[in-house]
Amino acid sequence: MIQEEILVKQVKAEIPKIFAPLLCGQYRNKFFYGGRAGGKSYAFADSLLLLGRQKKLFIACLREIQDSIKDSVYKLLCDRISFYALDDYRILESKIENKVTGTRFIFKGLRDQDSQKIKSLEGVDIAWIEEAQTITRKSWEILEPTIRKDGSEIWISMNREEENDPLWVLLAAHPDERTLVVKVNYYDNPFCPKEIKLQAQKCKENNPDDYEHIWLGEPVRQGNTKLISTACVRKAFELKMSSSASPLVIGVDVARFGDDKTIFCFRRGRWCQRFEAFAKMSVVEVANQATFFIQKFKPRRLFIDIGGVGAGVYDILKDRGLAEVVKGVNFGEKAHQFDRYANRRAEMWDAINLWLNDVLTPELPQDDELFGDLCSVNKKYDRRGRLMLEEKDEVKKRLGRSPDKADALALTFAEPVFEAVPTALYQKGQISWEDMFTKQNGDAEKW
Ligand SMILES: Nc1ncnc2c1ncn2[C@@H]1O[C@H](COP(=O)(O)OP(=O)(O)O)[C@@H](O)[C@H]1O
Ligand SMILES: [Mg+2]
Repeated sequence: MIQEEILVKQVKAEIPKIFAPLLCGQYRNKFFYGGRAGGKSYAFADSLLLLGRQKKLFIACLREIQDSIKDSVYKLLCDRISFYALDDYRILESKIENKVTGTRFIFKGLRDQDSQKIKSLEGVDIAWIEEAQTITRKSWEILEPTIRKDGSEIWISMNREEENDPLWVLLAAHPDERTLVVKVNYYDNPFCPKEIKLQAQKCKENNPDDYEHIWLGEPVRQGNTKLISTACVRKAFELKMSSSASPLVIGVDVARFGDDKTIFCFRRGRWCQRFEAFAKMSVVEVANQATFFIQKFKPRRLFIDIGGVGAGVYDILKDRGLAEVVKGVNFGEKAHQFDRYANRRAEMWDAINLWLNDVLTPELPQDDELFGDLCSVNKKYDRRGRLMLEEKDEVKKRLGRSPDKADALALTFAEPVFEAVPTALYQKGQISWEDMFTKQNGDAEKW
C-alpha cells in the first residue's frame, strides 16, 4: 500500500502542473495546444495510465489516420508503463489492459470509421484525440455524439497548423463553459530536454516565422496562396453599420447535394447584412423562399447560381414574372473580364476581395463559417496568367463542406447594381400576389 502511494506520487510528480486539470473531472473537453515539446503527449499518457489504475475506464486513443498501431500513442504508453514499472498493465498486440481495474486502451483512426463502426466507441469514458490539427470536421461530427456516456471526456492535443484547423474553430476559438483550452509550449515543460531547447533557440534566431509556428504553436502565416486574407475579413467583422442607402442585392447559392445548404446572402453596398441558410429544400421551396424575400425586401437584384439545380429555381422565378429582378449566373462561364479571370466564379470572388480591401471597410456579419469559407480558398493562375480558384473538391476536403456562404456573397457581385432606375416591378410600392404569380394564380393561396 505504501509502495502504491509512492508510485502514485511519482507519476503525479511527472505531470507538469499546467496539465493538472486532466486529473479532475469538471470539463467535457480538455483542449491543450501549442508548439513542439510542450509535454502534451507525455502528460496525457501519464494521466491516463494513472486514472486507469484507479478505476475501470474505457479509453480510446484516436487520430485522423492510423494505418498501423505504430502511428498511435501505443508505443508512448508502453514506454511509460515500463518506465514506472506498472506491472498491473498488460500490453497486448493492439490494446492495453489493466489486470486489476479492467481498464482498456484501444487505438483507432477516425477516417476509417463509419456510422456503424463508430458505435463501438459509445461506451468510451475518455477519448484522446492526438494530432488534432489533422482532424476533419466530418470526423468530429461523427465522433462527438458517439462519446455520449455520462461523465465522458474528450482530451485533445493539437499543434496548430493553420488559422482554420477545424477542431480549433469548432471548439477552442470560442470555448463554451464545458471546454477548457490551455496553451502549452516547450518552456512550460519542466522536462523539456536541453537539446530541444537549443534547437528552439536556433530556430528563433534563424527563422522567426518557423519558430512561431513550430515552437510557439501559432498557425502558419497565410502565404500569398490564399485569395482573401484573414486580416481583412476580421476587419470587416469589426465595423458596425446600422443602415445603408445602397440598393439591396441578394445572392442565392442553391444546395447541390443533400448535405449542403441553400444560402441567401443580403448585401447593400458596403454592408452585408445577413445570411439565411435552408437545409433540404426542394427547387420549388427555394423558389418560394426567394419569392417571399423579393416581396418582403424588394431587392434591386437577386442573383442565383444556375450552374446546377439553381437553374430550376431560376426558371420558376422567371415564370412568376420576376425576371426583371432575378438574374441567373453560371459560375463556370466566361468572365466579363476574360483576360484577367479564368471564369465568373474567380471574377466574383476577386470582387469580394477588392470590396474587403477597399479604403472604406465593408461590414460582414460575424460568422465562423463565413470566415472559414472566405479565408481557406487558394488562388491559382492558368497558363494565360488569369486568376482562378482551386477546385471545389479540394476546398471541400479541407473545410468538410463547400464554401456556400462565400459563394452566396460572391453572387451579390455578379454585376454592378445601381440605384438610378427604379425597378418597374416595385413601382406600385408593393408587389401584389397577382403580379408575383402572373402564370400561376392558383398557387397564390399557398402563401
Ligand atoms: N514527464 C516527463 N518525463 C520526462 N521527460 C518528459 C516528460 N514530459 C515530457 N518530457 C520530454 O519532453 C519532450 C516533449 O514532450 P511531448 O509530450 O512529446 O511534447 P508534445 O506532445 O507537446 O510535443 C519529450 O520528448 C520528453 O523528452
Ligand atoms: Mg505530441
